[in-house]
Amino acid sequence: MEPSDVPVIAIDGPAGSGKSTVARRLARRLSLQYLDTGAMYRAVAFAAIRQGLDPVDVGPVAALATTIDLVVADGDVVVDGVDASVEIRGPEVSRAVSVVAANPEVREEMRTRQRVWAVEHRGGVIEGRDIGTVVFPDALLKVYLTADPAVRAARRAKEMTDLEYDTVAADIARRDAADQGRSDSPLVEADDAVTVDTTGLEIDEVVEVIAGMVEERLADRDAAR
Ligand code: DC
Repeated sequence: MEPSDVPVIAIDGPAGSGKSTVARRLARRLSLQYLDTGAMYRAVAFAAIRQGLDPVDVGPVAALATTIDLVVADGDVVVDGVDASVEIRGPEVSRAVSVVAANPEVREEMRTRQRVWAVEHRGGVIEGRDIGTVVFPDALLKVYLTADPAVRAARRAKEMTDLEYDTVAADIARRDAADQGRSDSPLVEADDAVTVDTTGLEIDEVVEVIAGMVEERLADRDAAR
C-alpha cells in the first residue's frame, strides 16, 4: 500500500493557529488516528540535547534522527524508551527545535516515518508545516489554519503557564520567520489547501467545518469508485 492509497487529512499552519487542538478533536470526531509531526521534530531536538550534541551540528543530529526509537501517540512522546512528553514542550527544546527542523536529513527521515505511520494506521489526521505541500501531496483534504499573530501568542502563553506573553510572542515571531524562511520545505500554504482563519472562531466550530469538508470528500471519492 502507498501513502496516496490511505485517507490523510493534512493540517498545516503556524504556531498557535489552533492546529493541535483542532487536529486532535477532528480525529476523534471522525474516528481517525492523529499524528503531531511537530512532536517528532521536538523529540529529535530533545534526544540531541540529551546526548550533549549541539543542535546546529547537522551531521551528528541527522545520524541521531535515523537511529532513535520514536513513539508519538495520544500526546505522549517516548524517545529511546524515555518519556519526553513534558520536556519536548519546555523552553530548551522550543529554542533548539527550529534549527533541528531545518536540517534536510532530519526532515527526510521524519517524512519517511510519517508516510510509514500513515500506511500502518490506514490514514489519519496529520498536523505540521509541510504535510499538504511535501509529505502527502495527494492528501484527501489539506487545511491551512491561520490566526492573528497576537491571538496565536495569547493561546501559546496560556498553554505555557510559566512564560510571559511577551516572551511567547517573541518566540513565536522568531519561529514563524525560521519556519517560513528555511530552504527545505518551508511553511507555505499548498495551492489546493482550504484556508481557515481561526481568530474569532471557537475550536468546535472549526472542527465541524473541517469535518463537513472531509465527509464531502469521502462521499465524492466513494462515488467516483
Ligand atoms: O508545531 P510545533 O511548534 O510543535 O513544531 C515544532 C517545530 O517543528 C517548529 O519549529 C516547526 C517544526 N515543524 C516542521 O518544520 N515541520 C513539521 N511538519 C512540523 C513541525
